[in-house]
Amino acid sequence: TFVVTEACIKCRYTDCVEVCPVDCFHAGPNFLVIDPDECIDCTLCEPECPVEAIYPEDDLPDGQEGFIEINAELSRIWPVITEMEAAPADADEWADKTGKAELLER
Ligand code: SF4
Ligand code: F3S
Repeated sequence: TFVVTEACIKCRYTDCVEVCPVDCFHAGPNFLVIDPDECIDCTLCEPECPVEAIYPEDDLPDGQEGFIEINAELSRIWPVITEMEAAPADADEWADKTGKAELLER
């Protein structure tokens, strides 16, 4: 399965959602997650993300392992998103920031 990691937080560009053939992205206030039970590992979303937030679960950057459970948990709560939405007005300012995990809104 593929996993959305910290880089997405406060960027939320949503380029990823329209390519998913099984509609497994779910949207929260400032972050998106992938439903691990629905993802078919097609790989199409990974190159769509401008901030490279999406990785296969077995090839996550160091420190991002906690996002496996965050994707699983929040995909059960948040609604499905299949169409692009406008990114936050200040998304570009957050694009190369790290340490955003605590800014995740649920
Ligand atoms: Fe959807 Fe494919 Fe990305 Fe999985 S890898 S979330 S199926 S686009
Ligand atoms: Fe997030 Fe990248 Fe998608 S910033 S919403 S994972 S395009």
